[in-house]
Amino acid sequence: MQEKSVWEEFFDAHAPIYEQNEFTKNTLREVDFLLEELQLFPGASILDVGCGTGRHSIELAKRGYALTGIDLSAQMLAQAAEAASAAGVHVEWLHSDAASFSLLKQFDGVICLCEGAFGLLGSRDDPFSHPLAILSNICKSLKPQAKAVFTVLNGCAMIRKHQNKDVEEGRFDPLTMVEVSEHAPREGLPAVRVRERAFVPTELILLFRLAGMSVVNLWGGTAGNWGRRLIDLDEIELMVVAQKT
Ligand SMILES: C[S@@+](CC[C@H](N)C(=O)[O-])C[C@H]1O[C@@H](n2cnc3c(N)ncnc32)[C@H](O)[C@@H]1O
Repeated sequence: MQEKSVWEEFFDAHAPIYEQNEFTKNTLREVDFLLEELQLFPGASILDVGCGTGRHSIELAKRGYALTGIDLSAQMLAQAAEAASAAGVHVEWLHSDAASFSLLKQFDGVICLCEGAFGLLGSRDDPFSHPLAILSNICKSLKPQAKAVFTVLNGCAMIRKHQNKDVEEGRFDPLTMVEVSEHAPREGLPAVRVRERAFVPTELILLFRLAGMSVVNLWGGTAGNWGRRLIDLDEIELMVVAQKT
């Protein structure tokens, strides 16, 4: 059997408490925002990449959309399936890696939120080809002209947060925009070493173009504080609204 990636290990262990995180508490408002951006009518199909415990997928399914959720963590998906059945909605859940999945179907919209795979690097993932592979898969999964909404780590904030000492001591690499840190998935469990990739706006525009999408908007996208506003250089996350070209 294939070895679990560090993020799979992390989220499998974190799954039972994921929705206790404060940043998951604004799902209803986030879904309103997504529907305004995606401009889709009920019945439209939406792919949720790195869907986690399915909080957006389930709310969208409740509002009449046809959802497919992909995630690397079987335990996050198990929580999602349980919540969907408690809510009485159907969502298709797929245990798959966003960098390597392939679906025959194309969707009316895609969401990839709270670093749902994009920017979460496994120990051997290349900081350039991994995000590009995810974007290319997402682009292939979109119908022509369809839109996708992402929230990603803000590279401007990551640069401003770190000191030269962090670079010297290997906590932040400005060449790859990768931050390395140790996190316990939940209290009482040992910490695991994770790699998170941030993106500067210019690079996002280029990466999306390379994958076959154009960036329509780049806004503030920190969980709990999404807004159609200028980028704040210290904000943790950015929102990208993109369209398949
Ligand atoms: C912070 S959670 C976000 C979950 C959800 N999108 C939300 O907004 O609540 C990140 C999710 O991405 C998933 N993930 C990480 N790397 C992935 C990959 N390569 N492919 C698919 N899912 C991945 C994790 O398992 C986790 O469920």
